[in-house]
Amino acid sequence: MVDIHHHLLWGVDDGAKDFETSVAMAKASAADGVTHIVCTPHANGKYAFDPAVNAAKAEELQARLDADRVRLIVGLGCDFHLSYDNIQEAKTEPARFSVNGLGYLMVEIPDYGLPPGLTETFYELQLAGLTPVLTHPERNPTLQSDHARLGEWMRGGVLVQVTGDSVTGKMGKAAEKLAHTLLKKRWVHFLATDAHGVNMRPPRLSEARKLVAKKYGEDYAQALTSTNPRAVFEGKPFEVSEEPLELYQEFQEKSWWKRILE
Ligand SMILES: [Fe+2]
Repeated sequence: MVDIHHHLLWGVDDGAKDFETSVAMAKASAADGVTHIVCTPHANGKYAFDPAVNAAKAEELQARLDADRVRLIVGLGCDFHLSYDNIQEAKTEPARFSVNGLGYLMVEIPDYGLPPGLTETFYELQLAGLTPVLTHPERNPTLQSDHARLGEWMRGGVLVQVTGDSVTGKMGKAAEKLAHTLLKKRWVHFLATDAHGVNMRPPRLSEARKLVAKKYGEDYAQALTSTNPRAVFEGKPFEVSEEPLELYQEFQEKSWWKRILE
């Protein structure tokens, strides 16, 4: 499996607190069946984002894992907060925040509410050559009560990552419910851990993968945890494995004046 959302680097955000915690998290991931991790430190008002610092830490961690014979490849990305400054920087230097500098951008939306103009922001990022991957929409209360906005962004080419723990019910009932609504409609492209520590929000993915395989089929589980995230890791073009349901139909069924009124 490939985990594209993981706060593995120590001392850069609210993820791993020290080097040994990073090593323990990486080993737990490998034991769970993960072969590649994208380290995604926050870039927001609280945590500064420094690619050089992150790269040095990732290299140090990789060296330790190699020495300990842990079969895991560490990559770099960002948990990208949609602040004005971040967006401007991403537009002028698209590789700075994207996964391994290859174009896929993990975008976090606020825990509460949705900022205005998101559709335009995604479009601007795409014009800069980035492919936005929206992280854990199932945990956003506004989308939990109405996920139609998500469809609008997906029609524009935004991809969707759901947290493994939401699928297994460890993120609360509302997140679990929306996660399964989206899975049923094939509106999910990736499962990831969004791991923050060894005990609190640990790196676990195989449990969610198993549940997805049981409920929605092995092929979809494989796409969400392996094929699709690997394309992100390697910066390869994204191929939809299973057509999303009710994504374009809903849109077509509405008359043009109803869409304008909305
Ligand atoms: Fe995160």
